[in-house]
Amino acid sequence: MITENTIHELRTTLKSWRQSGTSIALVPTMGNLHTGHLKLIEVAQQQSQRVVASIFVNPTQFGPNEDFGSYPRTLLQDQAKLEQMGVDMLFLPDVETMYPEGSATVVEVKNLSDQYCGADRPGHFAGVATIVCKLFNIVQPDLAVFGEKDFQQLAVIRAMVADLNMPILIQGVATVRESDGLAMSSRNGYLTDEQRQIAPNLYQSLQGTCAAIKAGGTDFKEIINEQLDKLLGYGFEPDYLVICRSDNLTPANIEDTDLVVLVAAKLGNTRLIDNIYFSNN
Ligand code: PAJ
Repeated sequence: MITENTIHELRTTLKSWRQSGTSIALVPTMGNLHTGHLKLIEVAQQQSQRVVASIFVNPTQFGPNEDFGSYPRTLLQDQAKLEQMGVDMLFLPDVETMYPEGSATVVEVKNLSDQYCGADRPGHFAGVATIVCKLFNIVQPDLAVFGEKDFQQLAVIRAMVADLNMPILIQGVATVRESDGLAMSSRNGYLTDEQRQIAPNLYQSLQGTCAAIKAGGTDFKEIINEQLDKLLGYGFEPDYLVICRSDNLTPANIEDTDLVVLVAAKLGNTRLIDNIYFSNN
């Protein structure tokens, strides 16, 4: 695996790949790689001849009181995992490379970025869209792979690519879970043993919501409140639990068929998110 730290060197290598007609996939990450990340790599490898993974803990998507400083950084283990997966190139820039002094351009996907996680984390999705746009411009992949675990993030990226006419195919990958249902996340490592036991109830609240709708429940407010009460009972501090249309994330009603339930809740200091999508026919 080639590791590149600078944009110039990365472009030189990619140019030679591209000239020989090789298709290139990009898998952007913030590192601390788990099986969910590795699944994205696998999907990228199935669909492209070369795979570039990036590791960059992006400061602009963290709020002033969030965990940028303490975000888990496990570079040696990450490099070994990528190497073992057969990744062709790791892009590993530093903050100066991605945001040289004077950087002033921000990419913002309006509306979609303002609600749910965007409402709780102002500026978060502008930070995500800006860094992903920059990575797309640097690598110029044919394909980029993202997890459905971050459902709203995936929607923001799809909207950015469509709005800005970027010639990149966006591939979503189903959420990879622990055996007890908890969605894998780098932030799960923050949980105490006791919180880790409680955490799978977040996914249960999504399954409960889905089951209630599929069983013919029509009062979405009541269904949501019942699950929120349960989460509070377990000790979560829910930020939101919403039933949305899966294509544009606007609030759904009983006539809608393609639904996604989005949830975010704090357990102690750790904020967890998850989602479930399904057809209600
Ligand atoms: P990070 O949290 O490291 O996630 C990198 C990619 O892995 C994202 O596309 C995310 O959705 C996916 N992912 C995380 N957990 C997953 C799971 N359990 N199953 C499947 N996929 C999973 O998301 C980011 O980094 C950043 O916002 C980034 C897009 C890199 C921009 O900085």
